[in-house]
Amino acid sequence: MAYNLWAKNKELTLKVYIHTFGCQMNEYDSERMAGVLELAGHEMVFSEAEADAIIINTCSVRNLAEEKAYSYAGRFVVDKKVIMAGCLAETKKEELIKKFPTLHAVIGTYNFANIGKIITARKGKVLSGTAEEGYSTDVKRPGGVSGYIAIMQGCDNFCSYCIVPYARGRERSRSVKSIIAELNKMASDGFSEAILLGQNVNSYKDPETGINFSGLLKEAAKTDGIERIRFMTPHPKDISRQLVETVASVDKVCNHIHLPVQAGSDNILKAMNRKYTRQEYLEKLAMIREIIPGVCVTTDVMVGFPGESQSDFDDTVSLLEKAQFDSAYMFKYSPRTGTASYKMNDDVNKEEKARRINYVLELQKHISENINSAEIGRETTALGITTADRYKGEIEATLESGKKVFCPGDKNLIGKVFKVKLTGLKGMSFSGETVK
Ligand code: 5AD
Ligand code: SF4
Repeated sequence: MAYNLWAKNKELTLKVYIHTFGCQMNEYDSERMAGVLELAGHEMVFSEAEADAIIINTCSVRNLAEEKAYSYAGRFVVDKKVIMAGCLAETKKEELIKKFPTLHAVIGTYNFANIGKIITARKGKVLSGTAEEGYSTDVKRPGGVSGYIAIMQGCDNFCSYCIVPYARGRERSRSVKSIIAELNKMASDGFSEAILLGQNVNSYKDPETGINFSGLLKEAAKTDGIERIRFMTPHPKDISRQLVETVASVDKVCNHIHLPVQAGSDNILKAMNRKYTRQEYLEKLAMIREIIPGVCVTTDVMVGFPGESQSDFDDTVSLLEKAQFDSAYMFKYSPRTGTASYKMNDDVNKEEKARRINYVLELQKHISENINSAEIGRETTALGITTADRYKGEIEATLESGKKVFCPGDKNLIGKVFKVKLTGLKGMSFSGETVK
């Protein structure tokens, strides 16, 4: 084990708290940093007050992410060793140092493997963009049943609104070998479910063997102890029949596909540089539903993109009606510095964006409720996650769709896949009972 110098020198061991903003990939990156830090002898703590050093893992995709990171950082930069990491750190490096001159370091999305050295180095480091690190299997997850694992980094698609290709660089896949090693580690740490993460999983390609994403799923499913596999996110333009058939035929791979559509109007899809039309998206959706009966399909939708007219918005509404997604994440467009759409006129005003998002949120709520109601009476499988806090004597479990079910049961069901009958609705979740 690479137990290094720092561990031998007590003075150099620090108590570190990591605060994560943003998406699942950021959560995973924080877990990777925690793994590297523990190997270097540092101690992870769970509150800011206890910490000698605070790492802020920043995001630049989510709404208000930048402001939130600034106001959070502002609370500590005077009396703690503060490091900014992640997407905002990658895109705003020097700007951050100017804004917070007392920051200990700013590290971009390529340098997580060096966090152990950076945290004990002298102040003033700005690291980004060059050192491509390997993956360690010593990711420090908080524990539990379900864990994230990155299979690739970056994105080559350059959707016009999106910061990811700038914040995380070009697409690079991790080898099947290293992914399987980490899956085995997850299984021996007690995880039952692995969520494979990548910005565009369809373009996964093992740099050593050329195995594609379908091949990876088949290999991953051989991991003893990992009972379920999920993945996100595929891009609609290149989701293939082969991948959909793999999801249908490999038992451990959950019948759930998150397929972000973003908009229902061809004009807007073009301006977003999504590289598919409304019709092509609907054809892919029909293929998915034909090959995987009972599949759950979820999506992301954005309203108020530059130039989105009432008629463009109506196309998004009619697409949602037609597609009948199980659920959808809705976003109001907001410009990100450095992206192609940043130069476009952000001409849908705030009130109109709010009106549009409220409209689609309400519409989707009804669609989701109808779909869920129709599922009552169905027998399916669930994975026990935890004993339910809210409902005594019940266990909280997830269906293949990712939706929650609460049913009578105890901690023996945690981490187990069991048969369940859906008996009613609990908000957007289900109540159910176990079936022999
Ligand atoms: N404005 C609003 N929403 C965005 N998303 C990505 N970039 C932006 C932006 N600039 C949304 C997209 C994507 C999801 C993760 O975040 O819908 O699918
Ligand atoms: Fe961003 Fe588009 Fe890449 Fe997704 S596919 S990460 S939206 S550029």
